[in-house]
Amino acid sequence: MSGTAFVTGGASGIGLATARTLRDQGWNVVIADLDGSALRRVGREVDGVRAVALDVTDAPAVAAAVGAAEAEFGAVDALVNCAGVVENAPFLTAAPETFRRTLEVNLTGTFLVGQAVARGMAARGRGSIVNIASVSGLRGGPYRAAYGASKGGVIALTKVMAVELGPCGVRVNCVAPGATDTPLVRVAQPPAIRRAVLRSIPLGRYADPAETAAVIAFLAGDGAAFVTGQIWGVDGGQLAGAGWRPEPNEERPG
Ligand SMILES: NC(=O)c1ccc[n+]([C@@H]2O[C@H](COP(=O)([O-])OP(=O)(O)OC[C@H]3O[C@@H](n4cnc5c(N)ncnc54)[C@H](O)[C@@H]3O)[C@@H](O)[C@H]2O)c1
Repeated sequence: MSGTAFVTGGASGIGLATARTLRDQGWNVVIADLDGSALRRVGREVDGVRAVALDVTDAPAVAAAVGAAEAEFGAVDALVNCAGVVENAPFLTAAPETFRRTLEVNLTGTFLVGQAVARGMAARGRGSIVNIASVSGLRGGPYRAAYGASKGGVIALTKVMAVELGPCGVRVNCVAPGATDTPLVRVAQPPAIRRAVLRSIPLGRYADPAETAAVIAFLAGDGAAFVTGQIWGVDGGQLAGAGWRPEPNEERPG
């Protein structure tokens, strides 16, 4: 399947890499993002994508942006819910406002855009949605009360959407990235944390956003025509090893 793809958070990081990958695979791509200056830069530097200013937490604006994309291209055939924020804080001192804001963007935003796009897909009997969670939605990462709860919610929401929308011909899957080299991570992770994270990844490095985008694009397209309700890790093996990997020269058990 190709057609028109709507990518939230598409002005940066994984969303931008996904927009490029989908465009290269022949999709019309609309990127929707809150960050006006990043959108302008993408508009200048990335050919063949339509950039739209959008706050995914603003329900009327979401409906208008999705309606405009449907009017221009005839349909939205794929949605990638990639807009997200992260703010780490110890559970005992985390501010309620941070918790609310994180859930509002990461979880409610995924719900709002998903619902707006899925209504048209269900009416046409065809479509594919990829939500973006995180390894933090699958484990108890320290200082990630807000972020982990939001991403755990995205995983549960994905399964509900897949079950309700499957009979309407709409597939819904979720990608759970591990550490990926994007602006979000560069801001959120000081060097000591980065070194600790690296030690926990069997493949020994952060993902390039294009590697995550390749999996998202696969799930969005017809190659995954019988795949729905799945949580697909793209984490270099981090969760398989439960955060532990042997060092190359360490003594091995006999
Ligand atoms: N980078 C990682 O290591 C990593 C790991 C796991 C999951 N993720 C998830 O992947 C997604 C993309 O992350 P990234 O690393 O590319 O981050 P990023 O900061 O590079 O990109 C996120 C984009 O979302 C946009 N955004 C934020 N709030 C918005 C809102 N209210 N409305 C519309 N757009 C909004 C930002 O402007 C930004 O362009 C996020 O959902 C993030 O939680 C990232």
